[in-house]
Amino acid sequence: MEDDLDPPRIHPLLAERFSPYKFDPLTAIDDYSLGLLLEAARWAPSAGNSQPWGFYTSRPGKPEHERVVRYLAPSSARWATDAGLLVVTLARRHVGNPQLPYSEFADYDLGQAVAHLTIQAQSMGLAAHQFRAFNLEALTLELRPNPGWAIASMIAIGKAADMRPKTRDRRSIADLCSAPWSLSEVAL
Ligand SMILES: Cc1cc2nc3c(=O)[nH]c(=O)nc-3n(C[C@H](O)[C@H](O)[C@H](O)COP(=O)(O)O)c2cc1C
Repeated sequence: MEDDLDPPRIHPLLAERFSPYKFDPLTAIDDYSLGLLLEAARWAPSAGNSQPWGFYTSRPGKPEHERVVRYLAPSSARWATDAGLLVVTLARRHVGNPQLPYSEFADYDLGQAVAHLTIQAQSMGLAAHQFRAFNLEALTLELRPNPGWAIASMIAIGKAADMRPKTRDRRSIADLCSAPWSLSEVAL
């Protein structure tokens, strides 16, 4: 399962991306950079062009940051508080009317928007670490998203202060294409 990424054969923006466990606390994210990151998310594809994503952005020293960091789990607080930007991601899981049934592609689409944002960050010399290690219920009570919206994850974005691991675990291409089926069905 361990793949050495050197030399990378995929695009360097993808090959060199990793989720840092250390951020440089001195690297701030300015308004222009924040705008570029959100612009990248804005242009992601989505089912029916529904664009069911939303973001709460916060930077150190601002009141928004205080509202968010207090709900980090100890495991993420160790590194996420140093990042120049903390983003709470939200999906609009109900279309228009919250009484309507769950929108099956909302989280899928949000994930694509976050992937766009992540690679945009990489192109700007920044790194992103997505995470779920926070108190979801308490943060939801704090931020009070509109009906139909649900917090999905958080992203710490900033200048990485640790090195990309030399090797990382990934499933093989063969496994990606065979795991969903039983052996007899693959043989057909
Ligand atoms: C939805 C999501 C939730 C994650 N939650 C956490 C988390 O709570 N804590 C953490 O340290 N990393 C978290 N990660 C980061 C993954 O562990 C990481 O992406 C994975 O191990 C692959 O490493 P890489 O991003 O460096 O390639 C999360 C990533 C995603 C996409």
